[in-house]
Parts: sequence; C-alpha cells; structure tokens
Amino acid sequence: MTRHFTRRRFLQSACITVGALTMNLTGIEKALAAVTGVGPMASCDVLIIGSGGAGLRAAVAAMKNNPALTVVVVTKAMPSRNATCMAEGGINGVTDFSKGDSYELHCYDTVKGGDYLVDQGSTLKFCELAGPAILELDYLGMPFTRAEDGRVKARPFGGASKVRCNYSADKTGHIVAHVCLDEALTHGVKFLMDHELLDLGVDSGRCEGAVLRNIRTGEISPVRAKAVVLATGGYTRIFWNRTSTPYISTGDGVAAAMRAGVPFKDAEMIQFHPTGVVHGGVLITEAARGEGGYLLNNKGERFMKNYSPSKMELGPRDIVARAIETEIREGRGFGQGLESYVLLDLVHLGKDKIVNDLPQIRHVGKLFENIDLVDKPMIIRPTAHYSMGGIAVDKFDDMSTAMPGLFTAGEASCVSIHGANRLGGNSLADAVVTGKIAGDGASAYASAVGYCAGRHIADLAGRWRSRFKDVTDGGDAGRMYSIREQLGARLWDDMGIFRTGDKLTALTRALVELRSQYDSLRVPNANPVYNSVFTEYVELGNMLQLAQAACLAAAERKESRGAHTREDFPVRDDANFLKHSMVVMDDAGNLKLRWEDVEITKFKPEERKY
Ligand code: SIN
Repeated sequence: MTRHFTRRRFLQSACITVGALTMNLTGIEKALAAVTGVGPMASCDVLIIGSGGAGLRAAVAAMKNNPALTVVVVTKAMPSRNATCMAEGGINGVTDFSKGDSYELHCYDTVKGGDYLVDQGSTLKFCELAGPAILELDYLGMPFTRAEDGRVKARPFGGASKVRCNYSADKTGHIVAHVCLDEALTHGVKFLMDHELLDLGVDSGRCEGAVLRNIRTGEISPVRAKAVVLATGGYTRIFWNRTSTPYISTGDGVAAAMRAGVPFKDAEMIQFHPTGVVHGGVLITEAARGEGGYLLNNKGERFMKNYSPSKMELGPRDIVARAIETEIREGRGFGQGLESYVLLDLVHLGKDKIVNDLPQIRHVGKLFENIDLVDKPMIIRPTAHYSMGGIAVDKFDDMSTAMPGLFTAGEASCVSIHGANRLGGNSLADAVVTGKIAGDGASAYASAVGYCAGRHIADLAGRWRSRFKDVTDGGDAGRMYSIREQLGARLWDDMGIFRTGDKLTALTRALVELRSQYDSLRVPNANPVYNSVFTEYVELGNMLQLAQAACLAAAERKESRGAHTREDFPVRDDANFLKHSMVVMDDAGNLKLRWEDVEITKFKPEERKY
C-alpha cells in the first residue's frame, strides 16, 4: 500500500459499473435470447440493495460462503451514510452470564417489549446469535468501550431486565457500520455507488433481478441476479422531518417488494423514540437515560414515576414516548404546537461522564439547540425512529421471503423479532445477525441455481425510461415538496403516537387525495445527470404507497398494542388481534389486508407492567 492509498481510494477501487457486470451470453442463454428477445444484460450472483449494517454484513457473509460468487452492493448514498449510524447507544446481546443473564431472558424481554406480537422461535434464535455477533465484531477490531477487565462494556437500556447493551461511547452504530464496511472491502465485495432501486422483476414467481437507476448519469438498467437481498432500511421518512432517520430512509425496498407481490408485514408498527431533538427530530440516544439522565416536566417532576414506576426513564420506548406526549397534552410540557417539549437532564452526571460516554449527543445538543448538556437540560420530544414492520420473511434460518431468490435483512425485513415495539439496542443486533443469515442464505441459493432470462426487468426498465421522459416534461418541483410536507404533517397528526378510528378514516381519504395529486405530478429538469428531483419523485411514490399500507393496517387493528395506541380501543385484545397484519398489493395496485398467527412458544401473553 503506498502512502497515498487512502481508505477513500480503497473504496473507489471497490466500485464498479453496470457495464462491467454485462457478460456475454452462454450458449443456452443465446438460444433463450432468440425466444425471449433479451440480449446481454448486467448480471451478478448476489445483488444486495442497501449498504447499512445489514447489507454490508450480508455481503461479507455471501462472499465468505462462496468466494467464487460476484457479490454486488447497490447503494443510494455513500456506504456508511445510513440509519445504522443513527443507532447510537449500543448493541444488545448477552456476553456476560455471570450476573444471571441468559439468551432466554433476552428473548423474554424482547417478547414482552414487543407486546407479544413477536414470533418466539425466531426471537430465541436471534438472541442466541446476538451475543456471538458482538464477540465477532470485537474480534474484527471494533473499538468498543471497555470495562476495567478489558471486556466489552455494557450499559442499561430500556425494557431490559439485565445490563446487556454493549457500546462504543454513543457512536455504536456508526462504528458497527464502518467495521462492516472495512470487512466488505477486505473481502472483495463490489459496490454500485449512487444507484437507486426502481423495481424488482419476477419470472414465474422467482425474483430475476432489479431495475436500477444510476443517479450520476441517469442511466436506467436491468440487472439480473440469481439472488437479491433487500437491506434498504425502514420507512420512517414517511413522517418527513419528524424522524431521527436519514433522508434516504424512504422504504424503497419494502415498496418494491410489495409491487412484486411480497406482503408488507405489521406495517402499522412504527416506533417513536422518546428523545428526539425538538427542531429536526435528530436522535438523543437512550444511552442518556441508560447512564442516569432524568426526564422532567414543567413542574420539575420526574414524571416517569407515574407511568413506569419500576423502570422509570428506562421503560420501553412506547411507554416513555406516550408518557412524554401525555405530559405535553395535559399542559405539563413546555413550548407550543410542534415545538412542544419536555426536558432531559444530564447535568448531574458531570462533565467527565458526558465527555467520555455521551460526546455525540453533547455535540448534537450544541449544534441543533445551542444547549451544552454539561450545563443545561436538553429539550426533547418523541421522533419517528424505527419500522418494526417490513418485508415479510418466510424463514428466519435463511431470511428468505415467499418469493424464491428474494431475501431480506435488517430494518427492511420483518421476521417478527420486534413485534409492536422494538427494544433499544436490538436494532444493531438485528442488522448484523439477520444480515449474516441473509448473506449466507442468498449465497447458498445463488450457488445452486442459474439466471432467469431477465425478460421482466428488461421490460420494466423500458417502462421506467418512458416514465422519466413523461414525468420530467415540465412541471413544478414545489408541488412535489408540498405533497411530501403534507404527507409528513398528516401522518404525525393522524397516525402518530395517539391514533383513533376517526383520524385514520380522515387520513385514508387524505392519502387517496395526495396519491392522485402525485399521479398527475410533473417535475422540471429533463436532464438525466444528477437529477435528484427525479430521485425524490420516486421516493415520494414509495412513501405514499407505504403510508397507505400502514394506514390500512392501523385502521383495522382495533386495539392498543405496543407503539400502536388507539384511543378508541385502549386495551390490548389478544382474542382478536394477537395477529400480524399482512398488506398485499394486487396486480391492479390495490391494497388488501389479511391476518396471520403469531408464533407463541414459551412465553404466554401477560399484562405488560414495568
Ligand atoms: C439509541 O441509541 O437510542 C438508538 C438505538 C436503537 O434504536 O437501538
């Protein structure tokens, strides 16, 4: 390595183009091409869409499983600029059994935290794999914060009965993402940088690949793959600027999977993190409370004593977020309207603790609110943070979906570990555990099958090229941004922390209206090069689709469970709704809802008390 061979150059050397993936056809494929009319096409063995922790971990697993495969990661933004980096406070997993912790206890906490909408078989396996996954990250060189004996240090986190949230100060996700990126580069994973997913193609029920758009050049290409892994993250940007997640969290993979016929599971289950920055929604980590921070109302009371007397500020997120909103609604908050807030007080922790263990949120406090947490309490309000719902997984053991050749991992997926409310610290564990499983599964599948002809992706690519021409034929981007803003505001008001049948009915109508505005939308700029307005147009279409699905499931779930609080049905109703919602899109684009049983093995549903 020369003095000038920087990490950036290393990354550049891993980037490829769609052209480089275009191979000559084999004899059989030539014969097929004569029938199908499909010529040479970009092709790879495993196509992974998304470069957060789950996508990168999947890529490493796929390469290690079969180094002869071509494994390509498609990434809309720079790898490592993703929601994984927003998971600040830590990664759950039992690594210390000396104080009575066990995989079973981690599983129980997760099931109870998820208000029993949790498939217990998968969840126990997940907990058994989370501890070893942390040790693996440690082995790979992840700079964890250390206990005095040199072991990885853990801190208390919400809803957990033992201390098992392992951490690197308050930058854990950022560091997990970079460790996974370094591993991917080291193992020869290739990157299609600045490419967005437009659609998936299906041939006789099997996933044949994807249609991608190169954001830099505007080129729209079909890419065949023997196996596709969707690791595109969640969809909390549907709340637009009332979320802690990055601008790219628009649920592109979930939306494409739905259009390809795969169910969207538990769509209505969206987590509101209790402590977001008031102006902007950026995260103030739960670690602030894990390290001893207090929540205070305008009377100076630690109000969590009224909502979660045994856990106080470390109750599960749904309970803490509801408590904060209740304080605000009942006049015990500060500020007005969307700028209402309560206080998160860390001053008593002292400067050393904050500087060493919580440096990032100190920085965020100064940056967004001009508050130094060392001297003054931070002003916070809940923020949309995580999608418990996602692409329905058929089998935990390989993270396959019901569609052969299509796999999924991380926040994009729903393998029913998090149920109706995810525990803080379980998302990073989910990313690396399900990422590895999906990578192994996709690699094994791709090693055993040939390519599909690629007819459908070729056809879809043609339709997207025409759509680009039609949509960019004049118009006004302001209209598009107004739809996006209205979408976020309506969702916050009508499908936020407190929901009712009336609000959801009104929202259903509003979403139909926004959809019809979207369908006639035209945006300026017919130049394909770096046409980010078109990218935003595609993302908005995905967000509207996912919002409609979530609203359908939220309206029909006539009970309160976890993050889904129905003021008109305040009680959990296991008799009728201990079930997963499954929203499916039919060929005409209509959404249909059905219900599926939850897998209960060991832990019978009980009243959730903290
Ligand atoms: C946090 O640090 O509060 C976020 C971590 C997570 O969502 O698991």
